Amino acid sequence: MKRVAVLISGRGSNMRSLITAASAPDFPAKIALVISNVVSAEGLRFAAEAGIATKVISHKAYESREEFDHAVSAVLEAAGIEIVCLAGFMRILSDWFAKRWEGRLLNIHPSLLPLFKGTHVHEQALQAGVRVSGCTVHFVVPELDAGPIIAQATVPVESDDTPETLAARVLAEEHKLYPAALKMLAEGTVRLEKDRAVFAL
Ligand code: GRF
Repeated sequence: MKRVAVLISGRGSNMRSLITAASAPDFPAKIALVISNVVSAEGLRFAAEAGIATKVISHKAYESREEFDHAVSAVLEAAGIEIVCLAGFMRILSDWFAKRWEGRLLNIHPSLLPLFKGTHVHEQALQAGVRVSGCTVHFVVPELDAGPIIAQATVPVESDDTPETLAARVLAEEHKLYPAALKMLAEGTVRLEKDRAVFAL
């Protein structure tokens, strides 16, 4: 059973889906810790009510990105964390952190990467006129939204979609995809090798 931490900054609906999935007895990972860099993050309450350890580490208390990342990493290590899931964590992590947790650090992004990196993702998709969009779970590497892809899910883009309606359709898929991808990493059916995701059958 792998010990997992989820890093959030806000609503935490993906965190909730991970906690719910991991509460199944046969799930190969346990959500042992939730860290938020924002004290008012909604997701913290759900995690605490689910009996999961929570910790707020405000980036504002640190002079540099690296100092904040070292503090986060120290807390993860002290808690015996083996896998870290970013779930709506709105801080760019340093190269040091990405390297420190290489192969054990996942992110979910609400587009079919490598399309539409960064923020305002659904606006970007609608602007581009794509007819399908979706979400991606990937290993985190130093370059933003660029790590090797573990899993993706697609949704149709409707002609009357707004960023909000498209976001809601994608989010429903995120909630299924992230637990599935975490399960794969925790049970060893996917691993990072050099700069590729390698799948075991
Ligand atoms: C999700 O759309 C996720 O893909 C993106 O930020 C959003 C976070 O939502 N990285 P939530 O906090 O998990 O509800």
